[in-house]
Amino acid sequence: MATPKPKTAESASPRTMVRRAVRADAGQILELVTPYAAQGLMLPRTFDQIASRIDNYVVAADASGRVLACAALEEYSPSLAEVSSVAVSPAYHGKGLGSQVVLGVERLARARDIEELFALSLTDNFFLSLTYKPTPISRYPEKLARYDILSKSGVEIVPKRCFQKVLGKTWSAPRLVEQAQARKQQKLA
Ligand SMILES: CC(C)(COP(=O)(O)OP(=O)(O)OC[C@H]1O[C@@H](n2cnc3c(N)ncnc32)[C@H](O)[C@@H]1OP(=O)(O)O)[C@@H](O)C(=O)NCCC(=O)NCCS
Repeated sequence: MATPKPKTAESASPRTMVRRAVRADAGQILELVTPYAAQGLMLPRTFDQIASRIDNYVVAADASGRVLACAALEEYSPSLAEVSSVAVSPAYHGKGLGSQVVLGVERLARARDIEELFALSLTDNFFLSLTYKPTPISRYPEKLARYDILSKSGVEIVPKRCFQKVLGKTWSAPRLVEQAQARKQQKLA
């Protein structure tokens, strides 16, 4: 099998900004994830859950500030986190935005010295294309314990496949759109 090409921010539209989410994005993130949660593709979130953890979200937004994609870092320990709530607005699928927000979350993870990421998905090719490796979910008893609590509280848990990525000490994040743009602006100044 051919090795997937490393993703860079250059594949996103020049008018799309990949950035850390701010509190004002919380409502749009909620609107983005809720229909997918209803389909069992991700866990449901409330406005308060998103707003109180807004520092863990990365979004792709257009020039007018409209949120087109999001992803979140959910920490389980100082070294382990899940890439969760990966959602792209339906009209923007297949344009690289899902990859870009996951790369943004990976940057965030590295900045927090998190070494191992995992993700659960029904869309195998998405995480494989981002060089995640399939792994049994039993590797993450913390996640299974959370599923158990949610299931007991009535949340339907759709079984998904598990993927893992070790960032390691030498991992370096690809440049994000915002940095590429900032650099261009510096040159123009
Ligand atoms: C899954 C999702 C996040 C992908 O976002 P996207 O912006 O469309 O994906 P990208 O354009 O970055 O695609 C990256 C790779 O994933 C693959 N991929 C994306 N969606 C796919 C799908 N539905 N089925 C199979 N492969 C898919 C693409 O082929 C691409 O591979 P390539 O680079 O080798 O061509 C998006 O379709 C989505 O929001 N789905 C609904 C929510 C969901 O299922 N979230 C949980 C999934 S992690």
